This record gives sequence, C-alpha cells and structure tokens, in this order.
Amino acid sequence: MVAEELQRLKQRENAVILAHYYVDGQVQAMADYVGDSYYLAKIAAQSDKQTIVFCGVRFMGESAKILNPSRRVLLPDAQADCPMAHMARAEDIRRLRAQIPNLAVVCYINSTAALKAESDVCVTSSNALKIVSALPNKDILFIPDDNLGHYIAARLPEKRFHYLGGHCPVHSVVLAQDVESEKLAHPAAKVLTHPECRGEVRALSDFVGSTSEIISFAEKSDAKEFILCTEPGVLYELSLRCAGKKFYPVTPLCLDMKLVTPEKVLACLNGGGFEVKMGEDEMSAARRPLERMLELAK
Ligand code: 13P
Ligand code: SF4
Repeated sequence: MVAEELQRLKQRENAVILAHYYVDGQVQAMADYVGDSYYLAKIAAQSDKQTIVFCGVRFMGESAKILNPSRRVLLPDAQADCPMAHMARAEDIRRLRAQIPNLAVVCYINSTAALKAESDVCVTSSNALKIVSALPNKDILFIPDDNLGHYIAARLPEKRFHYLGGHCPVHSVVLAQDVESEKLAHPAAKVLTHPECRGEVRALSDFVGSTSEIISFAEKSDAKEFILCTEPGVLYELSLRCAGKKFYPVTPLCLDMKLVTPEKVLACLNGGGFEVKMGEDEMSAARRPLERMLELAK
C-alpha cells in the first residue's frame, strides 16, 4: 500500500529518491539509489528527474542542487545537518592561503557551500586519496575532517598537510579500547573502519574505507564476522548482501541522519519537505570544486 502510494507520488512529481547508507533502513528501502556520498553526488548531478528527494543531511542536498541547479531538491527534514560541515572558518582558510604559497585547499564534501567556495577541490572518503595525489601542490590544507586528512596524509608522505581541527562527532567517539573489547569478544572478526575514525582505531583495523567500500569488502570477504567502526545504518545494506555474516557495530547512531523517516519522505512528495534554495553566486562559487572532484575522481 505504502509502496503503491510511493510509486504514484514519484510519478506525479517526476521524482527520484536518493538515500545515504546512514539513514534508517526503511528509508533506504524506499529509495531508487542508495550509496555513499560520492556515488549519490554523481547520481544527483546526472539526474533528469524534475525533483530529487535527498534522504541524508543538508550538505548532500546542497551539493545535489549545486551540481544540478535546474532541479528541485527536497530534504525530508530541514534539521538534518552534519555538525562537521561547519567545523572550519573561511577567515582561517584565507589566512593560511596568505601565509603558505601554492597551498591547495581540499574540502571534504561534508562541508557548507561557503566552505566549498573557499576551496580548490572537494573530495569524499572514497576518492580523497586519488584526488589529493593528483594535485601538483605540496602543501595541502585539508578541511574540515582532521581524521580523514591524517588518513590520506599517511599515504602521501611527499605532501605537507595542514588542518583546522574538525571531526565527525559520531565516528570520533569510538576509541581503541572499544574496538579491543569487541575483538576480545569476537576474536575471529575483521575490523572494518571509516576514515572519519581516530588514528588509534584505524591502526587496529583490517580495512579502512568509505561506507560503500566497507560494504563491498564485507561482501567479498571469506570472514564471517566483522566489527563495524562506521555508522550502523550500513547494517541494512549488509543484511541484503551478506546473508549469514555477523556484524558488531561499535559506532553510535548519527542522529541527524536518523531524522529522516519514511513518513517525512512521503510528505516530501506531497507538498511537504524542505526545498534547498541557494543564491546563484553562492552556488557557482561552490560548483567549481565539486565539478573538479567529479573530473579528477573519474
Ligand atoms: P561516505 O558516504 O563517503 O562513506 O561518508 C560517510 C559520511 O559521514 C557521510 O556523512
Ligand atoms: Fe556528519 Fe558524522 Fe553524521 Fe556523517 S556520520 S553526517 S560526518 S555527523
């Protein structure tokens, strides 16, 4: 019944539904496309539907609008915002640009449009290594996630990284001792970790990658048990793709992602929701680093 109503409304509104792996499983089940930030940004950029319902946090809806500005982009909950997206200041970026010659400002897609506008290129957790290694600059200011920046920096010793001190409040609360106690309880389990986690957690891991990379690793692995250091929303896709395997999440829920509910998705298609609206200048300044990301990540 809900499925029929959903189809009817999607057709009426000429809409596509995109969902990040961290939203509730019931919301993921309603979506036409489910994936990590990079995959969803590409899908949004190419969508020919008039309306994009983005089941995720605000920066995802904003990136969709910036990349495909003639579409109507709707967020099911206006309050769903990523705290880390705000963890850098334009004046600090400008100060460092003035101090360090040939500085490349690399901006995680988990950021406001204003921060993107100050940046040379955007990245996501699945393409950051490829993109930063392709940049000719030695000095890299990586904003706003220090943990992802440190993870990339360790793989690119020829570059010099600078940071402004941001972190994901969900992934960064996981400590080495949390992983160690899960390992004691499940000694055969492989540890799968998102790069937004602390270095001490990444150091205990068998695999570090984006949400979609973690899911693919678990699917292909011969192991039967996994300790999950990423937001537990991935359990929905893992249950579809990894029958018989066991997962032990140690990361808390991202409460912003969990604000998106099936009812709010339906309401979006029925005159509700929150339409992403941005000024032309704001969008065009933030579009350049986003498009550069899509180009360099190919
Ligand atoms: P990915 O989708 O790149 O794995 O990033 C996770 C995340 O925190 C999104 O907010
Ligand atoms: Fe932001 Fe962390 Fe939630 Fe991702 S998991 S949306 S980075 S707070």
